[in-house]
Amino acid sequence: MTELATLRLDADDRGLDRAAAILGAGGLVAFPTETVYGLGADARNGRAVARIFAAKGRPRFNPLIVHLAEAQAARAFVAWSDKAETLATRFWPGPLTLVLPLLPGSPISPLVTADLPSLALRVPAHPLARALLRRFGGPVAAPSANPSGRISPTNADHVAAGLSGRIEAILDGGPCPVGVESTIVGLTDDIPRLLRPGGLASEEIEAALGCPLATSGPEVTAPGQLASHYAPTAPVRLNATGKRPGERLLGFGAAAEADLNLSPGGDLTEAAANLFAMLHRIDDGTAPIAVSPIPETGLGRAINDRLRRAAAPRD
Ligand code: TXA
Ligand code: MG
Repeated sequence: MTELATLRLDADDRGLDRAAAILGAGGLVAFPTETVYGLGADARNGRAVARIFAAKGRPRFNPLIVHLAEAQAARAFVAWSDKAETLATRFWPGPLTLVLPLLPGSPISPLVTADLPSLALRVPAHPLARALLRRFGGPVAAPSANPSGRISPTNADHVAAGLSGRIEAILDGGPCPVGVESTIVGLTDDIPRLLRPGGLASEEIEAALGCPLATSGPEVTAPGQLASHYAPTAPVRLNATGKRPGERLLGFGAAAEADLNLSPGGDLTEAAANLFAMLHRIDDGTAPIAVSPIPETGLGRAINDRLRRAAAPRD
C-alpha cells in the first residue's frame, strides 16, 4: 500500500467541506463521534468501503455500522419497526446502534454488511459528526478508527498513531465525551437483543422498551465480540485489589497505589470517558497492567466488556 499524506483537518467550515469532499471522492476520513473516533467512507461505494478493511487490517467478515444524519433516513435502508421507532425516538441522536433487516435493493455496499441480511445503523450526537454527515448527504460506514484488535481511539492523536499514512484525513474534534463505543441492539426478530454493551446503559433501553434485552442469540460472531480485542501491548490483569511487583495499576475509586485512576470518585460515566485514553497512556508495551474492580452496572457493563477483551489471551 502506498503511503498517503494524512491531512489533519480543523473543526471548522473549511475542514468540514474538505472532509465531505474526500468522502464524496471515495476517500477515508476519521471523524469524532460522542463515543470514539470513526473511520468513515461512503457506504454505497464498494471500493471506498474495501479501503476501510485494508487500512484497519480488519477481517472482511466483520460488518460495519452505517452512520446517518437523521433517523428518518434509516427507512431507505432497513425494514423499520415499532421497537425501532421507540428506541430511535428516545435515544437518537446518541450512542445507540440498531441492527435491522436490510431492505432488498438497498444501495449499501454488501461489503458493509459482510453479506448479512441485516444492517447496523446509528445517528451520532456529536455536532461535528452530524455536520459532516449533513454536508456529505449520504450514509457513512464507519468502524472505530483504530487498527483492528487494538485500543479504540478517543482523540485525534490516537487515530494518527494507528492509521497515519493509510487514510486521507483526520477531522480533529478533541476528545470524545462518552469514550466507549455505542450499545448495539439487534431488532431482527421478535426478541430485542443486546449485541454489545456500550455508551448507553442497557437498563435505560430496557426501561424504554418495557422488556428485558436477551443477551445471546443467533447473531454473527463479530470481532468486537471476539475474546481478544481492544488489546494494549502489555498483559492485563483484572479485579486487582493491589499492585504486584512491576505492575502499573489503572485504578477506580479509592485505589491508593494507582498510577492512573479512571475515576477517583467512583463515577462510571467519568470512568468510561477515560477508559481508552488511560489504557493508551498506561501501556508502555512491557509493564503488566493491573485494573481495579469495576461494578457490573450501567456503563460499568461496557467498561468491563472492553477490559475482559483487553485481558483475554492473545493468539
Ligand atoms: O460507537 C460506535 O459504535 C463506533 C463509532 C465510530 O460509531 N463504531 C464502532 O464500530 O464501534 P466497530 O466496527 O468498531 O464495531 C461495530 C460492531 C462490530 O462488532 C460489528 O460486528 C457489529 O458492530 N455489527 C455491524 N453490523 C452488524 C450486523 N449486521 N449484525 C450484527 N453485528 C453487527
Ligand atoms: Mg472497533
